Amino acid sequence: YGDYHQKIDYVFKVVLIGDSAVGKTQLLARFARNEFSLDSKATIGVEFQTKTLIIDNKTIKAQIWDTAGQERYRAVTSAYYRGAVGAMLVYDMTKRQSFDHMVRWLEELRGHADQNIVIMLIGNKCDLGSLRAVPMEDAEEVAQRENLFFMETSALESTNVETCFLTILTEIY
Ligand code: GTP
Repeated sequence: YGDYHQKIDYVFKVVLIGDSAVGKTQLLARFARNEFSLDSKATIGVEFQTKTLIIDNKTIKAQIWDTAGQERYRAVTSAYYRGAVGAMLVYDMTKRQSFDHMVRWLEELRGHADQNIVIMLIGNKCDLGSLRAVPMEDAEEVAQRENLFFMETSALESTNVETCFLTILTEIY
């Protein structure tokens, strides 16, 4: 009953977006391989990882795409969003600017992705609570207004990482 003989019922593509250094790559590393690195390099171009999960007795293969937050390292946008059924919009809860840029990321998403895409807003680095620059209420307000799910996570401490991916995948399913 190992991975090799598993029948896949669904493949779901989910994209990670957000400013550089908010922790997209580490959230994915934590979710896909239970790994974390403090000296994570900026992503160049596009990478993806897959993880197979069982939801509601169905085998779901999550294909999670990660791209550079830095403009100069970004690959062609429309190709990145093509076929995506979920998006994780990540900001760093200790960096107000990464939250304020949300407007821009949402615009890009709405311009390139399928209109039924499920979007989750993620305030990462909640282990650094004493440095908080974005009150939870601000994020909840945006989430409500823009019709997004919302969760605070820590890739470093594993807080809510599994939960946020499971939530978005269950919602897609
Ligand atoms: P780009 O590839 O440039 O878009 O950046 P990114 O969003 O993928 O950020 P990355 O995952 O590379 O993380 C940036 C830095 O933040 C690294 O030093 C990580 O170790 C650190 N980091 C990521 N997640 C967390 C977290 O939950 N808590 C803390 N304290 N640091 C984190």
